[in-house]
This record gives sequence, structure tokens and C-alpha cells, in this order.
Amino acid sequence: MQTINRLEDLRKAVDALKIGGKTVAFVPTMGALHEGHLTLVRQARARADHVISSIFVNPRQFGPNEDLDAYPRRLAADAALLEAEGVAVLWAPTVDQMYPQGYATNISVSGVSEVACGAARPGHFDGVATVVCKLFNQVRPDFALFGEKDWQQLAVIRRMARDLDLTQPHVDAIIGVPTVREPSGLALSSRNQYLNDSERAQAAGLSVAMRRAIAAIESGADVGAALAALNAEVLAGGFSSIDYADLRDAATLEDITTFTGQSARLLVAARIGATRLIDNMSVGS
Ligand code: PAF
Repeated sequence: MQTINRLEDLRKAVDALKIGGKTVAFVPTMGALHEGHLTLVRQARARADHVISSIFVNPRQFGPNEDLDAYPRRLAADAALLEAEGVAVLWAPTVDQMYPQGYATNISVSGVSEVACGAARPGHFDGVATVVCKLFNQVRPDFALFGEKDWQQLAVIRRMARDLDLTQPHVDAIIGVPTVREPSGLALSSRNQYLNDSERAQAAGLSVAMRRAIAAIESGADVGAALAALNAEVLAGGFSSIDYADLRDAATLEDITTFTGQSARLLVAARIGATRLIDNMSVGS
């Protein structure tokens, strides 16, 4: 595996990988890799001739009081994991390379970015859309894979790619991969390592409460009542606060107040101790 941190070297490496019409799948990450990321890499390998991954802790997607400084950085260990999974190129730019002096462009995706995490974390999805657009232009992949754990992020990226004609001539160039969970049901996340043992045990209750709410909604319970019960169960289970617990259209993320079998997603963000966790699950399919 080549680890590259200069754009001109990346461009040469991508050109070399694509010789003979070979395809490239891209797995962008912020590092602190876990089994969820490695699942993305494995699926990328199954889809394309070569896999490129990136590790870049993107400052533009962190708010002023968020965990940018604390975010785990362990490039050498992550690189070893990617190499063992057969990744051809690791793109690991510095902040100055990604956003050089005078950088002034922002990508903002309206609608889908404005609710849920977008409302709770102003500017977050502008930062995500901006860096992912840059990464797509830098890597020029045939496929890009993202975890469904960040469902809203996936929806924002899909909207941006369609709106800005970023996709290659593959209908499904942006591929969502189902969330990987611990046996307890806790969705894997780089931020889980902030949890102590008792918080980790309590955090598992989130997915249990979500499944209960989904079962109620699917059996015809009032959506507002099911979400209120979910909120109460999560708070009783040790979470300190809930940013949101919403039933939304799976693609547009419009709020759903009456469930009639449409393609829907239950999305939750809640805090346990100092750690903010997100999760989502499909409803009705
Ligand atoms: O999901 C992530 O790790 C990040 O948001 C991404 C897509 C790599 C952009 O920084």
C-alpha cells in the first residue's frame, strides 16, 4: 500500500491504478478505524479492482465546542489495518493541503442538511459536503462507500453528488453499507471509545429502545406517542439528553408524523456522559 500526502502524487497513483480500464472504489474516513470501516473496505474490494481509502480529520465539520482536538488520531495503526485489507492507496493529506491559505469555498446542501444533526450541529454538513466533494475530485473514484450509520450524511452526499454531477457513469456510484453493531446492538463508532464501561453498557439500550419504537410504529401506534416512549426509555436508561428522535423520509429526511408504510428511517442522537451518539434504523422495510 502506498501512503500519499501530496495531491500530485495521488493523481499519478490514481492514473496508474486505472490503466487498462481498472475500477477504483473509495472509502473516505477520519481514521480511528473499527470493524465498520473495515467492512466498507471489504465491500469496496468486492466491487472494484482497486481500493483507495483516505484518512483526514476534517476541521470544517466540527463545531467550535466539539471534539476536534480530542478526536482519536492513530495514522500508523490505521494504515496497518488498511494495508492488511488490501487497500492500494491511503490518501492522508494535511489540513494545509486540503485547505491552503486563502481557501474560500463552501458547499451547502439545503433541505436534507437542515434537520436532525444539521439543526443540532450548525455547519457540520457544509463541512462534510465540502470535504467529500474535494475528495471525490481528488480521487475520482468509480464507487464511493459510506456507512449507513451516518444516514443523514449519506443522504447529503447523494444529494450533492446528483446536484453537482459528481458521479461517474454508474447508477449506484455512492453505496451505503449497513451499520455494523456490537453483539449488544450498539452501533460501532469511533466515538464509542470515549465511553467508560458502564456508559458502554447503558449505550446498548439505545438500539433496544429504537427497535421497540419501530415495532410499535409498524404495528400502527401513533408516531408521536412511540417517539415519546422512546425518549422516556432512553433517558431512563442512563442517557443524559436527547438531541432528537425523529421518524423521517429515508431519502428526503422530511418529518413523518403519520406512518403509512412509506420508506422511513428512525434517527436518534443522544448524549451519554460527555459523548454524543447517533443511530438510525429503517422502519417498514
Ligand atoms: O464519516 C466520516 O468519517 C466523515 O464524515 C467523512 C465522510 C470521511 C468526511 O470527513
